[in-house]
Amino acid sequence: MFSLKKLSPTITDMIRFDHSHVLVSFHQYTADAKPKVKKALAETIASALEIHATLEEELFYPAVRNIDSGEPVLLKSVPEHNEMRRLIGELRATAPTDVRHDQLVQQLMRDVIHHVADEETVLLPQAERLLSKDRLSELGADMTRRRIELAGPKAGKLALDTAVGFSGSTAAWTLGIVGALAAATLLSRKAKPA
Ligand SMILES: [Fe+2]
Ligand SMILES: [Fe+2]
Repeated sequence: MFSLKKLSPTITDMIRFDHSHVLVSFHQYTADAKPKVKKALAETIASALEIHATLEEELFYPAVRNIDSGEPVLLKSVPEHNEMRRLIGELRATAPTDVRHDQLVQQLMRDVIHHVADEETVLLPQAERLLSKDRLSELGADMTRRRIELAGPKAGKLALDTAVGFSGSTAAWTLGIVGALAAATLLSRKAKPA
């Protein structure tokens, strides 16, 4: 039987994609950018990180905890997310014209690079060694579903960016999710009063 779950990209590839995507946004942030651009980039980075952290905490970390609950990288992951959330709160409360805004973005970038390096060199390979490909794809499908819920009104664009980032072997899955999102967007437009 046709199964969207088995065609979904794996949760580990989706996590890698999110990491690359947020690093691109960090690279676009330059000290000489206009304040409006700085604030927009900071918000793109902040919301991407918040959604990513929640998805990992709800779906990926519990799966890793099941196979190795004592892994030191896993144990420090949630405290690191919480520190990141604290920095994001401070960043949102800081004017983009304040030099502190640049410093906070840089500090956040440094923390995120360290955290991502730990995930990509320890947790993701470990999950890929110990969980089946089907299970990883199933978790990937769960992650997409939850991402759409968390992103709310931004769901279409965010999920589309993520889905379109995958190519080749996952083309069928990508077309499926893009089609579903297009339908959902049309429905929500229709539902709005004129
Ligand atoms: Fe993380
Ligand atoms: Fe991550």
